Amino acid sequence: MVLKSFVLTIAIMVLVTSMSYASNSIPLQDFCVAINDPNNSHVSMNGKFCKNPKDVTADDFFISGLNIAANTSNQFGSVITAVYVDSLPGLNTLGLAFSRIDYGPYGLNPPHINPRASEILVVHEGTLYVGFVLSNSGPNMKNKLFTKILHPGDVFVFPIGLIHFQFNMGKTRAVAFAGFSSQNPGLIFNANALFGSHPLLNDGILAKAFQVNKKIVDYLQSQSWSDNVRLP
Ligand SMILES: *[C@@H]1O[C@H](CO)[C@@H](O)[C@H](O)[C@H]1NC(C)=O
Ligand SMILES: *[C@@H]1O[C@H](CO)[C@@H](O)[C@H](O)[C@H]1NC(C)=O
Repeated sequence: MVLKSFVLTIAIMVLVTSMSYASNSIPLQDFCVAINDPNNSHVSMNGKFCKNPKDVTADDFFISGLNIAANTSNQFGSVITAVYVDSLPGLNTLGLAFSRIDYGPYGLNPPHINPRASEILVVHEGTLYVGFVLSNSGPNMKNKLFTKILHPGDVFVFPIGLIHFQFNMGKTRAVAFAGFSSQNPGLIFNANALFGSHPLLNDGILAKAFQVNKKIVDYLQSQSWSDNVRLP
């Protein structure tokens, strides 16, 4: 009887522990260089100080402007309007973020990773060719590509941490909205990170990694690797 309840207690403890790590068990920033709260009077929660609850208003949970189409004339032909903890402070610790994505004709939201969030995307206007690539793991699934053509009202999920993209197949604009399972999903554009790092990555390393001539790497590194993200 005693043994039984001991085992049960352990089982409950394991369950509770695993539940408490079920969301946001990973850091919500690339790194955290610690600094003391200068006033030593606030509660710090995963990278952000918490505002004193008595000073909180409805506006801390509010943002507007996602009805406004972005100007997509950049090298990708797309713009992400990002609503995350930096633009909507009420999202902090809630494990949620949101964005509007505008695509010009044949615009591309280039291959990228959200290191801390899965994404669920709904098409509002236009036709998108979307996809993601699996990781290296799994004997028959290694780097498998999943793609789909989406029309207005269609919904697609991009699992956390995988390289994914959306391409506007049409000669008219497209609009999508996306939800994320983190208040700070993070965004790594693969090409930007590898060919537009500061300082530049050694071209010999990239040439070997990509199995190309150094000249091709130098050409890629000479491009302007700006991104397509803005706040509302
Ligand atoms: C510290 O206190 C001052 C004065 O009350 C205030 O203006 C400031 O915002 C506080 N800083 C933080 C990080 O809370
Ligand atoms: C969009 O941006 C481009 C380049 O910055 C500019 O030339 C163009 O006038 C803008 N279009 C609109 C509709 O604002």
